[in-house]
Amino acid sequence: MLDEIRPGEPRDVLFLAESWWAMIEELGLAPAGFLPDWRARLAEHFSAGIADGSQGWFVADRNGERTGCAAAFLRASVIGEVQRRRSAVLAGVYVVPAFRRTGRARRLVTRAIEWSRERGCTQISLQTSASAEPLYRSLGFEDDRGLVLNLA
Ligand SMILES: CC(C)(COP(=O)(O)OP(=O)(O)OC[C@H]1O[C@@H](n2cnc3c(N)ncnc32)[C@H](O)[C@@H]1OP(=O)(O)O)[C@@H](O)C(=O)NCCC(=O)NCCS
Repeated sequence: MLDEIRPGEPRDVLFLAESWWAMIEELGLAPAGFLPDWRARLAEHFSAGIADGSQGWFVADRNGERTGCAAAFLRASVIGEVQRRRSAVLAGVYVVPAFRRTGRARRLVTRAIEWSRERGCTQISLQTSASAEPLYRSLGFEDDRGLVLNLA
């Protein structure tokens, strides 16, 4: 049976924090490591975002077992507001290794896109990992004109 994809709730925030950590670890994105209280800080940040509506989290739920997650974060930008152009960032896409390649990420990301559209977003951006890129491209994400200057 397919996992239920349901909105993330306050009771999920430890799973969301641990998944965030696992994603960053797996992708090697925090070479300087984490602060010792990373779990509590991430959980607090995600709780606040769920509470004020700025973060739309989704959780894959297999009869009570959480198997993956994804989020859309609304971008808070005065320029965006002034130009009446709301946008979101896709973040925290993670599927527990034992449950990969069976469509969970696709379903999770699709829900996060819907959530953003319902809130008036006209664009969603993201930074992709190599393994997730085919998924995002198949959902319509395309190259943008962004550049980055790495200072470290
Ligand atoms: C990337 C990730 C979220 C994919 O989760 P998943 O549930 O396995 O993805 P899905 O089953 O929905 O796969 C959808 C499509 O994505 C592509 N895909 C998924 N994993 C892939 C891989 N390892 N290599 C190449 N393509 C992959 C395929 O096109 C796949 O469709 P297919 O199985 O029909 O060929 C998961 O591997 C993961 O958590 N990776 C570590 C964290 C990460 O990279 N997160 C994304 C940050 S941007």
